[in-house]
Amino acid sequence: MKNILILTGAGISAESGLTTFRDANGLWENFRVEDVASIEGFNKNPKLVHDFYNMLRPVMAKAEPNAAHLAITSLQQNRPDLNINIVTQNVDLLHEKAKSQNIYHMHGRIDECVCLKCGHIMKTLQSVLENTPCESCQAVGTLKPNIVFFGEMPLFMPEISKMLKNCDLFIAIGTSGVVYPAAGFVYEAKYYGAQTYLFNLEKSENNSYFDYEILGKASKTLPAFFDKLTKENGE
Ligand code: OAD
Repeated sequence: MKNILILTGAGISAESGLTTFRDANGLWENFRVEDVASIEGFNKNPKLVHDFYNMLRPVMAKAEPNAAHLAITSLQQNRPDLNINIVTQNVDLLHEKAKSQNIYHMHGRIDECVCLKCGHIMKTLQSVLENTPCESCQAVGTLKPNIVFFGEMPLFMPEISKMLKNCDLFIAIGTSGVVYPAAGFVYEAKYYGAQTYLFNLEKSENNSYFDYEILGKASKTLPAFFDKLTKENGE
């Protein structure tokens, strides 16, 4: 085995205290996706969208990685013979805080805004207001949270396509399997010959595509599985 592709979703960060989107009392129960996570919503009411991400920024900045994030890092460190890539739908920074490598934020990052005028990516964990100027071109009213909204293309798709073709093992963790294209990755990985595993609290929408489904809290199920992979060293 050589290439492992890990897809993570909000469930891996749940035990770090971050609210998921579609579980009971999830973010989408309390906010309308159309308002705060769609390009139409942003065009209509940018203040509402900035307020939403300004609320999430300090919460995400404070969160710490849990045993599931750390298990991925351990596997990367203990099995340098494996090529392990992480594609995350999460905009939090917990894989970075866990010191994992090869992380692709396909839905963007909470610590970035993008200037719609000049394309500059501005790093910030501070609140961003409608009149916050772009630090590069100084335009006002052009900053958008660097979050991939419904109606926009996910990031890193060419890289992800390549990884899906090349992976021997595809592992999805903490994702409901509802949002495409990420929900379709398992099918593509399987088509190209990978073994596919799902680690989720409950059955996902796309669970029938997985060869193996391990239900439970990722902080418990994942370290046990990765310990086994670590011990298989060299195979
Ligand atoms: P969801 O909230 O849709 O799904 C989270 C999944 O994690 C659920 O299936 C839970 O059962 C599972 N889960 C919860 N706690 C868990 C735990 N401790 N261990 C393992 N699994 C657990 O989140 P995503 O699938 O990530 O997009 O959502 C996909 C996208 O939809 C997000 O990236 C976001 C959202 O709209 C954007 O904001 C662009």
